[in-house]
Amino acid sequence: MEHPWAPDGGGWFITIEGPDGAGKTTQAEALADHLRRRGHDVLLTREPGGTWLGERVREILLARSDAAGSTDPVTDAILFNAARRQLVSDVIRPALARRRTVLCARYADSTQAYQGYGSGVPLDRLRALQVLSTDGLLPHLTILLDLPVEAGLRRKAPGDVTRFEAEFDLDFHRRVRDGFLALAAASPERFQVIDASRPSEAVATSVNTAVDALVGSGEPNPYAARTTG
Ligand code: TYD
Repeated sequence: MEHPWAPDGGGWFITIEGPDGAGKTTQAEALADHLRRRGHDVLLTREPGGTWLGERVREILLARSDAAGSTDPVTDAILFNAARRQLVSDVIRPALARRRTVLCARYADSTQAYQGYGSGVPLDRLRALQVLSTDGLLPHLTILLDLPVEAGLRRKAPGDVTRFEAEFDLDFHRRVRDGFLALAAASPERFQVIDASRPSEAVATSVNTAVDALVGSGEPNPYAARTTG
């Protein structure tokens, strides 16, 4: 099935964000299947990761500090952005240029939420770093999977706990959640907030509806302003 291209003539760029345990991986995979059925050539990737450098940075960043020593939030932000730059230039931009639909689990909003709202790094500095790292590339659509912090953390299997879940307290995770909601409120044209505390099939239906409204409309769409400068 033919589908309309993104307004700038390339592929669609869709990110999935949310606090820990929101179900981003499951929902990203389900959305990839849905879009493939609708004829999209989908590239599914994640942050941190997706490139050789990104996967190495992921190991460093997510290692528990009892094994690896700690890093401060500015260092974390720089490392996340280093991995992001590599992913944007090696994977995301080339795929968009080939009109592929790129789905990315986590992207720049995660740095604003975790290192900014969560850890207190000034948001304007983080934004400047983000623009430098991505050359201003923003998604056409960001799905925010929202759920109460306790519910998210309860869902994580003990073996799947990262440094961010193990070292930071509930207040940190509450600031992260509220930060994501503040980012969504500030850019309503880019974000769709979805209640992720429901069963995953219900969440997937909402995600599909939000994405179909964007990519299936065939109308000139409002998501044209996709770079920040
Ligand atoms: P991951 O295992 O991908 O968690 P999840 O499955 O919940 O997405 O680990 C990513 C962790 O890194 C997560 O706790 C959020 C954190 N993170 C940041 O703090 N800043 C960032 O910019 C990104 C991309 C992730």
